Amino acid sequence: MAKDYKKLLPSLDMSRLPRHVGIIMDGNGRWAKQHSRPRLYGHREGAKSIRQVVELGVELGLKYLTFYAFSTENWNRPEDEVKGLLKLLKEKLIKEIPELNEQNIYVQFIGSEINLEAEYLAEIRAVAAKTHQNTGMVVNIAFNYGGRLEIIEAIKKLKPEDVNSLGPDNFGQYLWTKGQPDPDLIIRSSGEKRLSNFLLWQSAYSEIYITETLWPDFGKVEMIKALQDYQSRNRRYGGLG
Ligand code: FPP
Repeated sequence: MAKDYKKLLPSLDMSRLPRHVGIIMDGNGRWAKQHSRPRLYGHREGAKSIRQVVELGVELGLKYLTFYAFSTENWNRPEDEVKGLLKLLKEKLIKEIPELNEQNIYVQFIGSEINLEAEYLAEIRAVAAKTHQNTGMVVNIAFNYGGRLEIIEAIKKLKPEDVNSLGPDNFGQYLWTKGQPDPDLIIRSSGEKRLSNFLLWQSAYSEIYITETLWPDFGKVEMIKALQDYQSRNRRYGGLG
């Protein structure tokens, strides 16, 4: 069963894979409710889905994966859930370091420092830094992330002399995703049809794929379906293609 995805691999055109895939992981709470479990149990199951997608990413040779783990709006959730999410993120990351290093994966956080305790921030950054010698796939964890805030923070970094030379092609160097290609594909689970403040600048020409599947049920087969769908699109970037 778990290996079923292998049968689907030949359907992918390996020369036309997206370089960067962004994922809005949604539906953990609904999944937990359906299984009569607390919401945090759903998040824990959701973290397993991240592992599946990362494993497939390595197998396919994807270059960048970005997971929307915690938004600047998520602070509005009940305190227990917020605390649980922060704890889960740190624990999972620590646990996964050996595997991430074995797979040559570079992990980094993209997001704001606002509202985060300095000690916690330093801890998770130090854990991620243990992968910074790696040269393979880049995994961005969008954490305390908000697209509008990212753009505002970028503007604050500008020096007066930067402004005249600013254009759509170079503004990205001031964003948290500096140096990375824009996402070719953005996936959202659980059927909602919104970007929810995710990679607002970078998603200008992204293909969007929405699946009804709740995030904890999302795995390699679902990821391949998203990639198949992506490969069926005709990307025109505003031209006639
Ligand atoms: C959305 O589901 C999910 C989140 C806000 C959190 C996602 C975080 C994880 C899967 C764990 C992070 C761990 C690592 C290692 C990066 P929801 O709670 O909004 O679901 P609902 O819409 O059904 O309530």
